[in-house]
Amino acid sequence: MYELTDVTKRYRRGKDTVTALDNVSLTVPEGGRLVIQGPTGGGKSTLLHLLGGLDRATDGSVRLDGTDLTRLSEARLTRMRAERIGFVFQGFHLIPTLTAQENVETALVPLGLRAPERRKRAAEALESVGLAERAAHLPDELSGGQQQRAAIARALAKRPRVLLADEPTGNLDESTRDEVMEVLESRWRELGLTFVLVTHDSALARRADRVASIVHGAITVTDRSGAAAG
Ligand SMILES: Nc1ncnc2c1ncn2[C@@H]1O[C@H](COP(=O)(O)OP(=O)(O)OP(=O)(O)O)[C@@H](O)[C@H]1O
Ligand SMILES: [Mg+2]
Repeated sequence: MYELTDVTKRYRRGKDTVTALDNVSLTVPEGGRLVIQGPTGGGKSTLLHLLGGLDRATDGSVRLDGTDLTRLSEARLTRMRAERIGFVFQGFHLIPTLTAQENVETALVPLGLRAPERRKRAAEALESVGLAERAAHLPDELSGGQQQRAAIARALAKRPRVLLADEPTGNLDESTRDEVMEVLESRWRELGLTFVLVTHDSALARRADRVASIVHGAITVTDRSGAAAG
């Protein structure tokens, strides 16, 4: 689970300081899903970067299962990311010269797994997103939705406990959007992942139990499963 306490993130640019997150406190329970919405520039991606240990908070603590990510050394943070945190971005970021299978396998190299185990896990992950038949295809031989499913397989092959997705359907047309959301949703439920999702998909936000809105770096969480929480 995530526990964020009084998290502030400021970016310096020359003489200017931008406060991207302002005193954010938040919990995401193990196996829970938090949907994040809000206007452009509000701080959504900044929050996801802090949750994923891709960037460090200026102030406050970001605990994942009790470990404060803001205090970890760069090496331990890198290992934590490689082992426990899956990322899916708006752009698919697949390596164009590698097949879907090879793209997924590459993500397993930092785990120190042997090649046969990497092959097996990658094939399983592609199968789990419905892409087994396209495993030998290059990214530009796949549709947008298929590329994003390959990217989801890449995030899941390491068997993370956490999945972070930043507008994963932002580059897709409407019909494909639903297909990718369904894959994410079914993986989340089946694997019991802790799932944080930035999306503009209002249909999804309507059926989610917890929705956070981030505006000018301040967060408001609406919890429909119980009482409203900050
Ligand atoms: N590396 C950076 N250096 C300086 N300012 C930054 C940096 N990254 C983000 N910001 C600023 O922090 C604020 C929050 O940005 P962020 O990317 O988190 O917003 P967002 O909610 O994800 O927006 P969008 O919906 O457009 O993706 C913005 O004002 C942005 O300009
Ligand atoms: Mg963003």
